[in-house]
Amino acid sequence: MPNKFYITTPIYYVNAGPHLGHTYTTVAADVLARMHRLLGEKTFFLTGTDEHGAKIQEIAEKAGLPPKEFTDNIAGQFKEAWEKLNISNDRFIRTTEEEHMAAVSKALQYMYERGDVYKGSYEGLYCKGCEQFKSENDLVDGLCTDHKTKPEVMQEESYMFKLSAYADKLRDLIERDELKILPDSRKNEILSFYKNEGLKDISFSRKNVAWGIPVPWDRSHTIYVWADAFLNYLTGIGWDGTSNQPPEFWPADVQLMSKDILRVHATIWPAMLLSLGLPLPKTLFVHGFFLIDGQKMSKSIGNVISPDQLIKRYGVDATRYLLMSATPFGNDGDVNWKQFDDKYNADLANGLGNLVQRVATLIENTYKKERFDYNLGLIPEETITRLNKAEEKGVREYIKDFEPHNALGIIWELIGEANLFINIHKPWELAKNDTDAFIRNMNILLAIIHKIAWLLQPFMPTTAKDIFTMFGDKGERDIPDGHHFVINKKEGGLFPRLETQK
Ligand code: MSP
Repeated sequence: MPNKFYITTPIYYVNAGPHLGHTYTTVAADVLARMHRLLGEKTFFLTGTDEHGAKIQEIAEKAGLPPKEFTDNIAGQFKEAWEKLNISNDRFIRTTEEEHMAAVSKALQYMYERGDVYKGSYEGLYCKGCEQFKSENDLVDGLCTDHKTKPEVMQEESYMFKLSAYADKLRDLIERDELKILPDSRKNEILSFYKNEGLKDISFSRKNVAWGIPVPWDRSHTIYVWADAFLNYLTGIGWDGTSNQPPEFWPADVQLMSKDILRVHATIWPAMLLSLGLPLPKTLFVHGFFLIDGQKMSKSIGNVISPDQLIKRYGVDATRYLLMSATPFGNDGDVNWKQFDDKYNADLANGLGNLVQRVATLIENTYKKERFDYNLGLIPEETITRLNKAEEKGVREYIKDFEPHNALGIIWELIGEANLFINIHKPWELAKNDTDAFIRNMNILLAIIHKIAWLLQPFMPTTAKDIFTMFGDKGERDIPDGHHFVINKKEGGLFPRLETQK
């Protein structure tokens, strides 16, 4: 399909509700999806929940609930959070859906019949938190580095996946960027893993975990939760498990994730695709990992930040902004409430909010309810060049190169320039003594504000709309010459200042 764009997030575990980390990935995917739609590409954006396996089984048991009831509840929390955050996913997939389960079962049967899955036994270490097998090299002081727990020793009969058979081929594909891993540092990390550790066959079924998809030829086993989960990227776009028939959106253009799950995505997942005879995703993009006040988010520390808390304090669009501007995409980030508060006040209340309020008030005070006509002829050539450059960089370069934080940087440069322009030209004085200059200045400011709102759409869709509404701007790519602006200010401004700090 020409001009298509397929983007995925990881499907999140439903052991607990969504937090700031899941929110970051999902908002980032949403920004990219919205931008590609804005550019006219046929876009599909998939997210969802990963609901099977030992970890979920155990936590549901602890809660005294049947696993399905437990997962229904938490999956609902994810869905609701993304709806509140205005996430434009085309589909929300749950691995407990019948169609997904049937397709996974069929895919495993295919891999078994072609000899890539075989009966064996597995002996080794398993971290339930990661739902992953671990080697001694993965541990520090005998503990899983992500979960700080001691992996259990597992020894059981198991159906194994011939991962080792795909090692050379995958290493080559990654080296040649046929399966592109970004940023480069992550690609290098994976290539040294291939070089130093190589790939061993892995257990693809569990005998003692009932909460999973039964292995179709031996129902005393369930399918390994990651094998089940990975296939969501195909079933979520309509794949029914029939090999060699990829759905029209496949391969994925970008699969977003953080570093915690890159290794499995760069080994098991593409090996499964090769086994199934399907193309590999084009790019795996690995963004940074967030700490809160320097610490990993954890229930026991009590520092988990939920999307609801962020939305309550800042509103939906400000939450999206604060997350996307928190750190360069790809870098780790350390966040805290004070930093969010300060950024909200500086960039949103004082920066963007103040700019649109000032300009709307200036026009309103001078023209009352009369119309203000846009005169393209009054916009200096240098302003037009400046705005086109911002669009070129802000949209094409930075979004295509996975630098959404830099796209925001470009927008905030425009905001800074516009506020400075007002301070220098003092249009409130011109309104009294030089009407021509006043009209010229307002035209220039409206052109800049229009561009700001247009570029903001993927990041802050409601704010962009609010700005268009405030000025009676139709929100087309460019303002048509002669357009009649009508001021319709938003009560209380776009971003009321936060007075207190937590
Ligand atoms: N269920 C698996 C993924 C299966 S995909 C086939 C899983 N789930 S998870 O709930 O643990 O989600 C992990 C992902 O959530 C990370 O890769 C990242 O996208 C996001 N984040 C979770 N915590 C995060 C931070 N603290 N910081 C940034 N993103 C993080 O792994």
